[in-house]
Amino acid sequence: MDRQRLWELISLPFRASGEKPRFVKISRAHVSGASYLNIGEAGVRLLRDMADSGMRVKVRTTLNPGFAELSEAGEGSCAPGIMTKQKEIADSFLRMGVLPTFSCTPYLEANVPRRGEHLAWAESSAVLYSNTIMGAWTNKESGIGALAAAIIGVTSRTGVHTPSGRLPKLRIEYKGEVSDEATAGALGYVVGGLSGEKIPAIRSEGLLDQVRTTEYLAALGTSGSAPMAVIEGVSPRISRRRIEKLPSVKVSEADVRHVLDVFKSDQSPEAILIGCPHAVRLSARAVVSLSKAKLGLPVFVFTSRRAKNRLGRAGLLQKLHARGIDVVADACIMWCGLRSLGYRSVITNSVKGAYYLRNQMHIDVDLRPLSRIVG
Ligand code: F3S
Repeated sequence: MDRQRLWELISLPFRASGEKPRFVKISRAHVSGASYLNIGEAGVRLLRDMADSGMRVKVRTTLNPGFAELSEAGEGSCAPGIMTKQKEIADSFLRMGVLPTFSCTPYLEANVPRRGEHLAWAESSAVLYSNTIMGAWTNKESGIGALAAAIIGVTSRTGVHTPSGRLPKLRIEYKGEVSDEATAGALGYVVGGLSGEKIPAIRSEGLLDQVRTTEYLAALGTSGSAPMAVIEGVSPRISRRRIEKLPSVKVSEADVRHVLDVFKSDQSPEAILIGCPHAVRLSARAVVSLSKAKLGLPVFVFTSRRAKNRLGRAGLLQKLHARGIDVVADACIMWCGLRSLGYRSVITNSVKGAYYLRNQMHIDVDLRPLSRIVG
């Protein structure tokens, strides 16, 4: 991989149209493709070659979660061969100047964008959140595309990097309840499937809550390809008049229930997984409700290393562990520990998590909101 190839990667969106490439300077990047599960041996080699050839990022660049927890606490949780590969991936990114944050919620800590900032972010849930809620400007980059942009310092000025590319194209009419994060995820999954690459606008009281918004957007990014959505009452700078004129699509409660049913299971669950996207702002109340609940199953909460350290300093990790709740840092919900522990069936409160656990890890999933997991 040389700089010429990096420029080619950044120019890709213009290839098909034959237009002259236009670029925009970026101030931040967030790179995915950090999990050995996803990139495999070829990815490990590519990253090593890039780091060996002296490539360095030019802007603040954070990293998505990997496949394993790399801190001391993670030792022994996964097969030694996987730990070695995951450490090598971390080392290559580190040598390129990427911050080893290993979290999919960089917008909450470590890489918080301002409104109007141009970014090159991979990780669809983070892209959707930063555009939709924070008013930042980033397309849905591939992992290698975001890394190339971080090294060069620019990305292609296309899509949501242009004002016209940020306009919603579809109005979603949904009159049903969004009573919890699992329902919000199911709604996002329906909307993503309907809107595809078009930016959908929605108005729902139920999406004014941050946890539900996060799950809505993460699921929307799972079934759809738009880098941005509009949520009235949450998204900055929206014109109601413009939204009212858009073609509309009706979504019913039955559509949402159908998704909730798709992610049901009658298998006996063996563990509970929370934190997709990462539970970085796990509130004290949530921690207390988790630690008080008689869950009867091991619980794994996925979060950033910073958040885990905060819980450790507050003396909560040990207390949670004593109640069968383990906090896993650095790793995606698709965590190698699930394989080591041999889990075949789990409960999660995330539609995105349920989708990938089922389709990529081949683990049976049962979707439930946290209130029904602890209740
Ligand atoms: Fe994050 Fe992995 Fe979910 S990257 S959004 S925990 S699938």
